[in-house]
Amino acid sequence: MVPTNNKNEWMESMMKYRTPTQWLFALSLMCFSSVTLAQEKGQLDAFHAGMGMSCTDCHGDAQPRQAVPMTKCLECHDTKALAKSTEDTLPTNPHDNRHFSTETNCNYCHHQHQESENYCLGCHLRYEFVVP
Ligand code: HEC
Ligand code: HEC
Ligand code: HEC
Ligand code: HEC
Repeated sequence: MVPTNNKNEWMESMMKYRTPTQWLFALSLMCFSSVTLAQEKGQLDAFHAGMGMSCTDCHGDAQPRQAVPMTKCLECHDTKALAKSTEDTLPTNPHDNRHFSTETNCNYCHHQHQESENYCLGCHLRYEFVVP
């Protein structure tokens, strides 16, 4: 038997926690949906992780975490082969251009942890390709 007094205290404490609980719940939903969103957008870190890669494959083992230069990408991606595979991309080949030939820095366009961008668009409004 729960004395009425205690029961009321319990009810009261629940009322007290109700708002923060809802707040936490809402927060966890927000986190959850932003993770889902990142995956829906197909961000590259998720893509690479899906290929079995870990953070150290790009950032190395050292602390603090190292920056990732383009040469790291080239350990797995071949620029000439890449240029060949996208030679029919319109309006122009993103992997072979007048300025840098096949060696445009990958990180200008492809981002791992945020949405990629179209670097060329800054100057060429008609090069409106979508960067994965
Ligand atoms: C495929 C290579 C790759 C992998 C795998 C990778 N990163 Fe990165 N990371 C990068 C690159 C490149 C940048 C520079 C920003 C950019 O252009 O995306 C970066 C930047 C960062 C930054 C700096 C903040 C920012 O967003 O610019 C942090 C922190 C970071 N990475 C953490 C991680 C962690 C944690 C993991 C594992 C879950 C990871 N990275 C896996 C390539 C990678
Ligand atoms: C350890 C090997 C490895 C490294 C390092 C690596 N990648 Fe990849 N990446 C892959 C593999 C494997 C695939 C899937 C096959 C393919 O599309 O070439 C891939 C796919 C991609 C894709 C295509 C994603 C899609 O949606 O089709 C992009 C873009 C890409 N990588 C960019 C980068 C960039 C930029 C870097 C450097 C910051 C990098 N990768 C570093 C292995 C790697
Ligand atoms: C000017 C922006 C830009 C730069 C710089 C760039 N890419 Fe891409 N990348 C694209 C676009 C746009 C596509 C989609 C092409 C398509 O769908 O026809 C793509 C597609 C890819 C793909 C998947 C398609 C395939 O054929 O495998 C990979 C892998 C990739 N890029 C890797 C790289 C790497 C590695 C570098 C650096 C050597 C790089 N990219 C530099 C814009 C860029
Ligand atoms: C900072 C500005 C700037 C950026 C960024 C830039 N370009 Fe250019 N680009 C120019 C200018 C200016 C010209 C004309 C002068 C010349 O021909 O060199 C040009 C010319 C070209 C041409 C010759 C044909 C034409 O339309 O005149 C191609 C192809 C080209 N750019 C492709 C690219 C690609 C692909 C990218 C992204 C990787 C890129 N550009 C990024 C400024 C830029």
